[in-house]
Amino acid sequence: MSDRQLDVLVICGSLRKGSYNAALARTLPALAPGGMKLRTAPSFERFPLYNFDIQDATGFPPEVNAWADAIRRADGLVIVSPEYNWSIPGGLKNAIDWVSRMKEQPFKDKPVALQSAAGGILGGSRMQYHLRQSLTSIDALLFGRGDRHVCRAEIPREDARAQGSDGDRHDQASAFRLRTIHPAREREGIK
Ligand SMILES: Cc1cc2nc3c(=O)[nH]c(=O)nc-3n(C[C@H](O)[C@H](O)[C@H](O)COP(=O)(O)O)c2cc1C
Repeated sequence: MSDRQLDVLVICGSLRKGSYNAALARTLPALAPGGMKLRTAPSFERFPLYNFDIQDATGFPPEVNAWADAIRRADGLVIVSPEYNWSIPGGLKNAIDWVSRMKEQPFKDKPVALQSAAGGILGGSRMQYHLRQSLTSIDALLFGRGDRHVCRAEIPREDARAQGSDGDRHDQASAFRLRTIHPAREREGIK
């Protein structure tokens, strides 16, 4: 067996500084099992809105090519994203739309795991269903189980603790939140 570490790229669907999903994404490298290295994907923040005329006139923008290259190089992906209006945040969907038009389409045959943190009690699960459909349409390989939904992400950490998340089998998401998002935000001084 090879000693090579699995190289996994983490893509965050939220662009905002104080993002719960970004905090969760930053926590993942420390939780990775041995033999797996997680690195952060380049941002898709500056991608223009997808328009075939741009692609036709000037080709793929350099930042789109950089994002696609990072995905191609990875053995697999973890996408950590909020849910916007029951679906995929526009910025992330736009990024996927861009690279889906490439000849060497980077999501093809790429193993992908999904995670989400969202304000609602479904923890972004509707976004995950839509993302699963979109990525399946471009031949990504989605893990069927093991997805993570962190519900009520905005709940203050003291309230989450007071709900007795530790050991409460009905509230695994809160326990996960206490282990990941809140410590990451605490360390970085985000309220
Ligand atoms: C445009 C918009 C739409 C949203 N729609 C949903 C939604 O459909 N379901 C949900 O649970 N939360 C929704 N929210 C709340 C987000 O889950 C919450 O703001 C979350 O913290 C965003 O993720 P972030 O902290 O990683 O940026 C929405 C927020 C925004 C800004």
